[in-house]
Amino acid sequence: MLSCLAEDQQPERIHAYLAQSYWATGIPLELVKRSVAGSLCFGIFFRGEQVAFARVISDRATFAYLADVYVLEEHRGQGLADWLMTTIVAHPELQGLRRFMLATRDAHGLYAKYGFTPTAKPEALMEIVKPDLYLRSKPANQPD
Ligand SMILES: CC(C)(COP(=O)(O)OP(=O)(O)OC[C@H]1O[C@@H](n2cnc3c(N)ncnc32)[C@H](O)[C@@H]1OP(=O)(O)O)[C@@H](O)C(=O)NCCC(=O)NCCS
Repeated sequence: MLSCLAEDQQPERIHAYLAQSYWATGIPLELVKRSVAGSLCFGIFFRGEQVAFARVISDRATFAYLADVYVLEEHRGQGLADWLMTTIVAHPELQGLRRFMLATRDAHGLYAKYGFTPTAKPEALMEIVKPDLYLRSKPANQPD
């Protein structure tokens, strides 16, 4: 089953993946819950458990940013990411956008199938980025 209803998403399971992902290592559960609440979320569920996730941060009119896309390792290679992406780009609240962005380390081939291209003018983009933020904010009483 695929659902984009906020109440169907399983933040504890999403957190279990994201906290050990290469891009959000150490993210606290509380932040995952807030990010899920503030995003248009897409989940795939197998036997009641969330096995894939993606979220879109958007004004739902002009701009969107795709983030936190994953499929659990044991469910990869079966088209689940294709299913997520097909659903996302067809979502009624994500039509007519002037810009739809994402960042990826190595999954360019996946997103290229859905119309994403490398940034034409990277020199025009700016960012504030704190890659180690969640590692640094780990509570003092947590083991390393
Ligand atoms: C990337 C990921 C989401 C793909 O999930 P998946 O369910 O195995 O993908 P699918 O089976 O639906 O394959 C979708 C298509 O994308 C391609 N693809 C899958 N993973 C890819 C990757 N890492 N790089 C490039 N293309 C990829 C597949 O070849 C397939 O295309 P094809 O059918 O035309 O050959 C999954 O490997 C994953 O969770 N990886 C770890 C987390 C991650 O890197 N997420 C992306 C962060 S931007």
